[in-house]
Amino acid sequence: MKNIVVLISGSGSNLQAIIDACSAGLIKNSQITAVISNKENAYGLERARNANIEAIHIAPNQYTDREQYDEALADCIEQFKPDVVILAGFMRILSADFVRRFKGKMLNIHPSLLPKYPGLNTHQRAMDAGDNVHGTSVHFVTEELDGGPVILQARVPIFDNDTVEEVTARVQKQEHAIYPLVTQWLAENRLTMSSDGKAILDGIELPAQGMQHNKKGDR
Ligand code: GAR
Repeated sequence: MKNIVVLISGSGSNLQAIIDACSAGLIKNSQITAVISNKENAYGLERARNANIEAIHIAPNQYTDREQYDEALADCIEQFKPDVVILAGFMRILSADFVRRFKGKMLNIHPSLLPKYPGLNTHQRAMDAGDNVHGTSVHFVTEELDGGPVILQARVPIFDNDTVEEVTARVQKQEHAIYPLVTQWLAENRLTMSSDGKAILDGIELPAQGMQHNKKGDR
């Protein structure tokens, strides 16, 4: 049985997609052993409790600096013997030591077609730039913010009269499809990160932008 630990800060809709994929047997022989949040009122903690998963809040203001917080967080994660660590809307910058402790087994989902729009407000930035294609990327976490090798991307259209809420919802629908899939690949040992920082799936090195989930995008 593979152990998955999920880190969240908010709603946890991606967490829910992974919980559902585990219960449906789509992610085989795997269990989420803990969900950890930096925000006490994150709805994702409630989703975890509803699924009988241990839900833990670690408050940043109990620690003097980022390094101390990250060390406590990493120690907590390690208690759950994770094979896979999932960042699902975990909105903190991670220290280099933390990233190194979970290198090759930690994934993030980022709401843009990386390397476009690392950082925040990605949907608004894509709209402001006049992009008509946008999307989301699952990547290995490395020390570079939103910069690790991309594994899988999904594209969505942006229409002229879209609101940011509509674009967000369209992207999230794709996130809920691709994140469980990549989690499964990592849990099944089909996916690795090479020593020179490339994503390898079934022995094949993936291109810089990863694989594409859907060529045209859908709503
Ligand atoms: C997701 O859309 C994810 O891509 C984004 O936060 C959202 C969390 O939603 N992550 C980032 O922006 C990380 N830089 P959720 O809590 O409903 O899963």
